[in-house]
Amino acid sequence: MCGIIGYIGRENAAERVIYGLKKLEYRGYDSSGISLVEGSKLLRYRAKGRLENLVSALKNIRLHGTTAIGHTRWATHGKPSDENAHPHTDCTGKITIIHNGIIENYYEIKQMLLKRGHKFTSETDSEIFAHLIEENIGKGVEKAVQAALKKIRGMYAMVILHAGEPDKIVAARKGSPLVLGIGKNENFIASDVPSFLKYTKKAVFLEDDDMAVITKQGYTVLNNGKKVSRKITHIKWNDSQAEKNGYPHYMLKEIGEEPQAFEDTIIGRFDSDRAKILFETVNDARLRKMKNVRIIACGTSYHAAYTTKYLMEKYSGLNVSVDIGSEIRYAAPAVTKDTLIIIISQSGETIDTIAAFNNIKKRAGYSIAVVNVVGSTLSRELDSVIYTHAGPEIGVAATKTFISQLAVLYLLSFHIASLKGRMSRKKIRSALKSLRKIPGYIKEIIKERKKIEKIGAKYSRHRDFLYYGRNINYPIALEGALKLKEISYIHAEGYPAGEMKHGPIALVDDKVPNVFIAPVNALYEKIINNIEEIRARDGIIIAVTNRSNKTMKNYADDVIYIPDIDEDFYPLLAAVPLHLLAYYIGVKKGIDVDKPRNLAKSVTVE
Ligand code: G6P
Repeated sequence: MCGIIGYIGRENAAERVIYGLKKLEYRGYDSSGISLVEGSKLLRYRAKGRLENLVSALKNIRLHGTTAIGHTRWATHGKPSDENAHPHTDCTGKITIIHNGIIENYYEIKQMLLKRGHKFTSETDSEIFAHLIEENIGKGVEKAVQAALKKIRGMYAMVILHAGEPDKIVAARKGSPLVLGIGKNENFIASDVPSFLKYTKKAVFLEDDDMAVITKQGYTVLNNGKKVSRKITHIKWNDSQAEKNGYPHYMLKEIGEEPQAFEDTIIGRFDSDRAKILFETVNDARLRKMKNVRIIACGTSYHAAYTTKYLMEKYSGLNVSVDIGSEIRYAAPAVTKDTLIIIISQSGETIDTIAAFNNIKKRAGYSIAVVNVVGSTLSRELDSVIYTHAGPEIGVAATKTFISQLAVLYLLSFHIASLKGRMSRKKIRSALKSLRKIPGYIKEIIKERKKIEKIGAKYSRHRDFLYYGRNINYPIALEGALKLKEISYIHAEGYPAGEMKHGPIALVDDKVPNVFIAPVNALYEKIINNIEEIRARDGIIIAVTNRSNKTMKNYADDVIYIPDIDEDFYPLLAAVPLHLLAYYIGVKKGIDVDKPRNLAKSVTVE
């Protein structure tokens, strides 16, 4: 995802900013750029592709400015190109901005600015912000930024430089992270700490609605126009720890990023006012014609597929089937010209999934890939691609990418339902409202992770686990079991709770923990019946249930509480404690959870 670094001080700003951009590369990007002030002139260099392209473009240019801002862009609005790369400028070429996030109402603003004579040179939503500032620059950059912020809706981390006021950089955040690096006679503003850690370990994390004015000697932070003080954090990590953002493992860092991954994936893909879901890359006319759906995936992606089956069938009324890639590649599935194929893959390179698609593509009506890695094979092979915006995932076991796959698939299910006339505007609006709450709820679960760590420690010596869920939570039971298996080497199985009596109950004794996903809904009593049957045989119960559920503690040995949410959205929350439980059990057992034995992040062999 996009990265930001800004520098103001006495040193060569271009060198500092390029160093910072290198440290941001891990986030994934497809172009980069830098703006700096020399005298009263604004210089700007941008390049599509790898950062080396920008570095080689700068090779023979002697830059000596001491104020600069730089960006790595991960395309959302407008293809990766030199013109769409940040920084962007206004018409005068004196105001330059970089932006992470999405300006939801950019189109209306752009129309308004076009009428007022502004000329645009990119396809991005971000460029409008430079022009909005231009409208009020007479009042000074701070006031002009404040006025521009009032006009935009959406998520942003913004950094602004004005050649007329080279003694300051202005920054603002809402939703996307920004952190100040406080040095001696030099200061930084960045998306994350590693980009300035070599120069200072003092950091100030900005909060939503903060605007910071950064100079060589200091900084001020305003929130909604009022001066506020934000605490200075002394970073204790070294460089390699910093890449993990202070977390002991990538896996825990990536679970910690689940709220952001979800947010980044849904943002810009709906318009709450008009109750509309918008997938730029999807052909709605073709989608509307489809009468049935086949979803294909492997591993964790298969669990996202399976969850979608329940959701999509309920909302759109279409017949949805799910298949594992390695199975369908050699089968003769029923696929016709009114079949929509959805392929889900984090890496976009899983060979079984690719082969499965090749087996059916000629017969399919329309195909959509849901992929995280930009430019990967599957992102190119299907009719359309919807990217999950989870950012790079390093831990071998998928965590944040699973949550962002669900984010896309929830939106897509609602979108298809609305195209089919099965979901009213009112229902869409209410579904969007629930989706917007998810990141905050996931954060609440992660905050309570110490409790899950304790539960993990208690059961880390057990050799078998069983996971149960019903209906839309059954695939989440599969996901919980797979994750535990992968990173703790404990044998685990996921089952539909109703199937318990057809097999797993034979395994019940006082040594096997049984993990139940137990939403308080119409099926709650059925789950309680299953739990009772296990208790009658001395079995161990761990339950994931609603925070408001006061009775579960009477049945379960350990209870993990999650926020109350409408039952259709339960999987989005229930998966998180199960990821954490697997993580803590793996760590307790001393396993290298980021690189568990025999597994690979991207499985390109059969
Ligand atoms: C491997 C990974 C899993 C992943 C699966 C499918 O097994 O270890 O985390 O879920 O491949 O990968 P894909 O990239 O197609 O989602």
